[in-house]
Amino acid sequence: MSTLVEARALSKSFGKTRAVQGISLTVAAGEAYGLVGPDGAGKTTAIRLLIGALTPDAGSVELCGINLATDPDKARSSAGYLAQRFALYTDLTVQENLAFFAAVRGMPPGAVQARITELLGFVNLAGFENRLAGQLSGGMKQKLGLACAIVHAPTVLLLDEPTAGVDPVTRQDFWQLLIRLLAGGMALVVTTTYMDEAARCQRLGFMHSGRMLTTGSPRALTQAFDGAVLELTAAPLKQARRICMQDEDLVEAVTFGDRLHLRVRSAAGPLQRLPAALAAAAVTVTQLRPIAPTLEDVFIALLAAPPTP
Ligand SMILES: Nc1ncnc2c1ncn2[C@@H]1O[C@H](COP(=O)(O)OP(=O)(O)O)[C@@H](O)[C@H]1O
Ligand SMILES: [Mg+2]
Repeated sequence: MSTLVEARALSKSFGKTRAVQGISLTVAAGEAYGLVGPDGAGKTTAIRLLIGALTPDAGSVELCGINLATDPDKARSSAGYLAQRFALYTDLTVQENLAFFAAVRGMPPGAVQARITELLGFVNLAGFENRLAGQLSGGMKQKLGLACAIVHAPTVLLLDEPTAGVDPVTRQDFWQLLIRLLAGGMALVVTTTYMDEAARCQRLGFMHSGRMLTTGSPRALTQAFDGAVLELTAAPLKQARRICMQDEDLVEAVTFGDRLHLRVRSAAGPLQRLPAALAAAAVTVTQLRPIAPTLEDVFIALLAAPPTP
């Protein structure tokens, strides 16, 4: 597999804020690399360094084997970028937005219309050519944003929280497009705060305070998870949580809708003790069972106790 994105030891500070501290990543053709982390972790800064919108204080980036510092135009010509708060021209139509980005990307005028027609089909906006971008639904704007980012058929695509604030069905739709691009051999770097999206990536990097805390496939990360998780469905939940927190093997209790995920040092003790303790506190237990940890469990645990540098 050919490496299309290679970042080595990237660092960037803004004044005293060390936004990105020595992160490295490689992404091969057909691979999605997910950058995950809380607000302020440095995800946007990392993406902006990868596309060359920011100059790193240290480190290097190669896109399709071309060094971004020494040959920026050529390196960037093979990459598409969708910013976190990307701006479509709301008073231009769908067609006009695409034509504008095609021109910015220096596409030969003769090739533009065929490419626009192809893209409209790809993102399912055929028939909406003449609608003003400002009058599209959130999901359609997202898809138009994607179409604009790939108008020049890049082989590397950098997406910064492309589906933030979009409903789950639309997110699912959007990912179907990304999966097709990946199948075509594109390398994707995507930042997200949604774990269902993170789970779709071949590789994840979890960032916190500018550092890469851990990397690996979603499967490897959940398998390396330290400890066990019990799922407790009970009522009232708040009371249940209070009782569980008193168990000597309990590390953390996180609420997921109508249930708790209990991270425990080992499952056996709590499985034995908790039913009686909860019953004594008048908590009705519907179910208490060990479950496989989810990515969300992994990341919440990492955030609760980030490895010390
Ligand atoms: N242009 C900038 N000037 C000053 N500080 C910045 C700038 N961009 C980002 N930062 C700071 O760098 C840190 C990382 O920000 P950012 O990369 O936007 O994180 P994320 O995308 O993960 O939320 C934050 O503390 C943020 O305030
Ligand atoms: Mg960001």
